[in-house]
Amino acid sequence: MKSTVLNILLTGGSGYIGSHTAVALTDAGHRIFIFDNYCNSSAETIHKIQAITAQPITVVRGDIRDTALLQQTLETHQIDAVIHFAGLKAVGESAVIPLDYYANNVQGTISLLQAMQAASHAPRALVFSSSATVYGDPQYLPIDEAHPTHATNPYGRTKLHIEEILADLARSDASWQIACLRYFNPVGAHASGLIGENPNGLPNNLMPFVAQVAIGKLKQLKVFGDDYDTPDGTGVRDYIHVLDLAEGHLAALNYLGSHAGMHTFNLGTGRGYSVLEMIRAFEAASGRTVPFTIAPRRPGDIASCYASTALASKALKWNASRDLKAMCESSWKFQQNVMQSVPSTTEQA
Ligand code: NAD
Ligand code: WQD
Repeated sequence: MKSTVLNILLTGGSGYIGSHTAVALTDAGHRIFIFDNYCNSSAETIHKIQAITAQPITVVRGDIRDTALLQQTLETHQIDAVIHFAGLKAVGESAVIPLDYYANNVQGTISLLQAMQAASHAPRALVFSSSATVYGDPQYLPIDEAHPTHATNPYGRTKLHIEEILADLARSDASWQIACLRYFNPVGAHASGLIGENPNGLPNNLMPFVAQVAIGKLKQLKVFGDDYDTPDGTGVRDYIHVLDLAEGHLAALNYLGSHAGMHTFNLGTGRGYSVLEMIRAFEAASGRTVPFTIAPRRPGDIASCYASTALASKALKWNASRDLKAMCESSWKFQQNVMQSVPSTTEQA
């Protein structure tokens, strides 16, 4: 990377994490380009990003498996660095349609890497969205980057395969600068309430489910198990504000400016909260009650998972700073905006 102001391509930049990162990068003075096929997002988000940043964004609608279109995009806009968010991410769905997951995530990543390799100006800086799911059932806590990896579902395996491909690529050619970011549990929304996480159908993840119960769209939450070996028996996770996560990408890009090779970092807070703690925090932030029942454990779930943040703190000089209150308040604000803009339907939880 040569300049301070970078031209950065965000694959999947219209999605939940990509849109917040687009805002953080624009705020930092970089020029943003988004490549997305809207399979899990919409052009509406692009308008919201532009409203927040007051900057125009160039968007290319396309599939990351279209290598020629990616190469053309990289060259036309003289892209210096790519942040690769695009992919499918639903754990349960990945067990039902594994080939779609391998095609989208693994084949899609290979296509992106081929486009970067073929592009005439040879961009070599890449930040990849990996996941704490690659650690499987933790052998020790907090989880550091040296923890053994083990995927327990096809989605997680796509992330592991991609990490291995990236490592092979970096070994084969010393000019690559690759950061592999293992996110823990991203939650929350931009303080404007304009962008956030708005999954289609019934949410898979805790926070959007809680938000939809709080606003009355869903009747009640099922707490998946209260007999785990945790302080209150419910699952413990490392929830990280999506804006902290977004800023982690900026820190990773800065790091790559002076570090070639492949580098893997956890992005988490280092602190875990239980499901019951999350419910209470959301009730406090929203002023609403979140009715719940205790249900059987969800297959494949683990008791506790939280990050060691030492490496990211030392190397990237990045730490998450926003607290649980900020996560819940921003998520609630976004949820209220969503309900105002879309006619509500009541579903049975
Ligand atoms: P998201 O679904 O909101 O965003 C992904 C975006 O990629 C969407 O806009 C979608 O339309 C786009 N996309 C998907 N396949 C594409 C393709 N073939 N071509 C072009 N665009 C495509 O998901 P997110 O929560 O923002 O996650 C972003 C990345 O972070 C994903 O790779 C995900 O696996 C990873 N991740 C997410 C979480 C999480 O809990 N949200 C945790 C760890 C890792
Ligand atoms: C959190 C806690 C549940 C929903 C998943 C993926 C992981 C990563 C992040 C992408 C757990 C409990 C949940 C509900 C509940 N994504 N829960 N009732 O499972 O840590 O991670 O999202 O990479 O790969 O597996 O997050 O939000 O689904 O669950 O009680 O309706 O909330 O049991 O303890 P998880 P989650």
